[in-house]
Amino acid sequence: MSNYHIKHLEEYFQVYRKSVRNPEGFWEEIAEEHFNWRKKWNKVLSWDFDKPEVKWFEGAKLNITENCLDRHIPTRGNKTAILFEPNNPNEEAQHITYNELHERVCRMANVLLSKGVKKGDRVCIYLPMIPELAVSLLACARIGAIHSVVFAGFSANALSTRINDSDCKMVICSDGSFRGNKTIDLKVIVDKGLEDCPGVETVLVVKRTNTEVTMKEGRDLWMHPLLDVAESNLEAELMDAEDPLFILYTSGSTGQPKGMVHTTAGYMVYTAYTFKNAFQYKEEDVYWCTADIGWITGHSYIVYGPLANGATTVMFEGVPSYPDYGRFWQIVEKHKINQFYTAPTAIRALAKEKLEFVEKYDLSSLKVIGSVGEPINEEAWHWYNNNVGRKKSPIIDTWWQTETGGIMITPIPYVTPTTPTYATLPFIGIQPALMDENGKEIEGNQVDGRLCIKFPWPSIARTIWGNHQRYKDTYFSAYKNMYFTGDGALRDAVGYYRITGRVDDVIIVSGHNLGTAPIEDSINEHPAVAESAIVGFPHDVKGNALYGYVILKEMGEDRNKENLKKEINQQITEQIGPIAKLDKIQFVPGLPKTRSGKIMRRILRKIASKDTSNLGDTSTLLNPEVVQDIMDNAL
Ligand code: PRX
Repeated sequence: MSNYHIKHLEEYFQVYRKSVRNPEGFWEEIAEEHFNWRKKWNKVLSWDFDKPEVKWFEGAKLNITENCLDRHIPTRGNKTAILFEPNNPNEEAQHITYNELHERVCRMANVLLSKGVKKGDRVCIYLPMIPELAVSLLACARIGAIHSVVFAGFSANALSTRINDSDCKMVICSDGSFRGNKTIDLKVIVDKGLEDCPGVETVLVVKRTNTEVTMKEGRDLWMHPLLDVAESNLEAELMDAEDPLFILYTSGSTGQPKGMVHTTAGYMVYTAYTFKNAFQYKEEDVYWCTADIGWITGHSYIVYGPLANGATTVMFEGVPSYPDYGRFWQIVEKHKINQFYTAPTAIRALAKEKLEFVEKYDLSSLKVIGSVGEPINEEAWHWYNNNVGRKKSPIIDTWWQTETGGIMITPIPYVTPTTPTYATLPFIGIQPALMDENGKEIEGNQVDGRLCIKFPWPSIARTIWGNHQRYKDTYFSAYKNMYFTGDGALRDAVGYYRITGRVDDVIIVSGHNLGTAPIEDSINEHPAVAESAIVGFPHDVKGNALYGYVILKEMGEDRNKENLKKEINQQITEQIGPIAKLDKIQFVPGLPKTRSGKIMRRILRKIASKDTSNLGDTSTLLNPEVVQDIMDNAL
């Protein structure tokens, strides 16, 4: 028997050692015993971090939807697979069983086929958190199409960039979406985005809000009438282990968003195994992750990981503040949630509200509560522990990334003793390393450095869509034979890891990764702007907020500054999305630059954080005089 379910600490150490000494043997056993394969692999792993190239279970044939759906039908056909909780608390929740989900996925897969989507084609999914979103992912996987989900809070511009980057021929969207007391006209955003996407042949529109929409002749079709007449069964397409399953975009510190490519078999094995252990999921449990499926957390731990384990996974359409700040806890009580997984930014926002919002609900069903997406600060950790976990449900602070596909460093609940703000120990099979700036590994404990991973794990992203060189440059060039995460971390006396944050120009705002360069590009396009620089500064709810330093052209000098700030944020909203708006904008005469012309962001970060007692070495500055001016007028 393989060690599919770890139940105590000694077992963790023993299994961990096994997974590191003989990774191939370890993962082969897990894969063999817990998944359905149409054909087994010829080789478990081949890898070369220099090329870079990683292949798991080469030669195997499978379809991930057979593992997430078909194989559960005999034993769990009537079990709820997806429990849909609508935005409006008065609208009834939907319990979609494995039988029903299988049928809905097959119907949609048949619709996609009938509209000409073939294996390997890219399909962009731009939907709110409604069941059709999960169904769309699985329908693509059923026929071997590669899904590219774009978070439905992104702007038309961001959507079209992503559609064009991966050449999607189809878009699945809805008429609109409900978020709290707002209705958002999603189809209008899609129409605008598609003005720049000549490659899109078909748009399938799900009806959700009954908003009036314009349907473009020859391109746009309502989804539901097509589903109604589609066949309810479909043989799954046979996929190679290394066939791409999906593309998911994440921000880089420079340039265009990166389309991270995840493949089939390794991703399935790793997300399923981590789900089972990190959440200690048991057959009758009801599991809820509050993320949006537009992010990796939703892909891996709302859809694939839970369904591969035959779990009941909740999809929530709404927001934590509607109809009031007790909504999360009301849902926990209503559906007797056993595992709850959210982001520190949500915890901090809820912790600011009256305690009675959480106290009045029965949360005794909870067994495990999780955190993901950014470092969880001490105060938020304790609030979560005291008021949600009620000091009996362990907090799992799970560190991972879009690129890693699955959870990498986490406590295993009831197994690993937790320490506030620490992600604790590497998950089974994960070999972290801390590196110094000269490329040397830092051994021992009570040290900090840059977090790398030394050995491939099954769900590592295989490339950046259309740009393998960038994949190599971003992740495998900083340190030889290592995957570089872009994060800093420390290792304490007992070997626990604490992630301290990004060491590059990615800023995490409310749990969303934002690259500074695309935001700066967007600001610079404003006719009154000459140049700009963005940095993050600490924010008590968002974790980080954005501070923009903007140099105006002469024509901007006479303009009303408050209006200009509004216009700049409007521009960012249109080009990227409201999540990238700046909290503070300071107009400056210049930016501190080195002699080689590089902006010294370190100084700007310190000023934005009101931490100017020691600015560090400024001797290489070309224009030290601007620093004083910026400090004097800081916001
Ligand atoms: O900086 C780390 C932070 O989020 C980054 C990855 O973001 P993304 O690709 O959007 O994936 C988020 C969901 C997996 C990481 O490089 N991060 C994520 N989880 C944690 C974290 N930082 C500290 N603690 C965490 N638990």
